[in-house]
Amino acid sequence: MKRVLVAYGSTRGGTARLAAMIGEALTEAGLTAVVMPARDVMDLADVDAVIVAGALYANRWHRDARRFVRRHSSPLRALPVWLVSSGPLDDSATRGVIAPTRQVAKLIERVGARGHQTFGGSLATDARGFPASAMARTRAGDWSDVDHVRRWVATIAQQLVAAESR
Ligand SMILES: Cc1cc2nc3c(=O)[nH]c(=O)nc-3n(C[C@H](O)[C@H](O)[C@H](O)COP(=O)(O)O)c2cc1C
Repeated sequence: MKRVLVAYGSTRGGTARLAAMIGEALTEAGLTAVVMPARDVMDLADVDAVIVAGALYANRWHRDARRFVRRHSSPLRALPVWLVSSGPLDDSATRGVIAPTRQVAKLIERVGARGHQTFGGSLATDARGFPASAMARTRAGDWSDVDHVRRWVATIAQQLVAAESR
């Protein structure tokens, strides 16, 4: 069975939850999912595909996600890879396709990623730190959408399973 690593960079837990959602959807699709913080991944041995999810803060992809891609770029180039960004605090990610930020686009190119997906983010009403606390006054909420995640994971699972049967 194909093993898919879901490595994530998250500051306030939203992207960690999204990564867990992706992991569950992969399992439902018949794949083996290993979900872990990007900074804890030592190597990519025994991994058949990788999804890297990073939170967006002021258009910058989470540092752990960036570092992960740079550190492992050589094995990543040889694997099917998808990058995930999280996420707008509105329904824009479910309404249409959101292009990767410039920084993420460069990393996509660097490892020859097969695709990129933006999912809705989340922000707690009691988020701490500036400017998050100020933003939370008007934009708090959870915009992650499990059906959106499942639909996207199904397209990936299809590609991986098709490759296996060839
Ligand atoms: C200060 C701040 C800046 C943010 N900037 C962006 C952004 O540029 N683009 C975006 O899509 N979401 C942005 N967001 C929303 C976050 O990406 C969203 O809250 C995400 O779920 C955070 O992930 P985390 O909980 O894993 O840290 C921002 C949120 C905060 C608090």
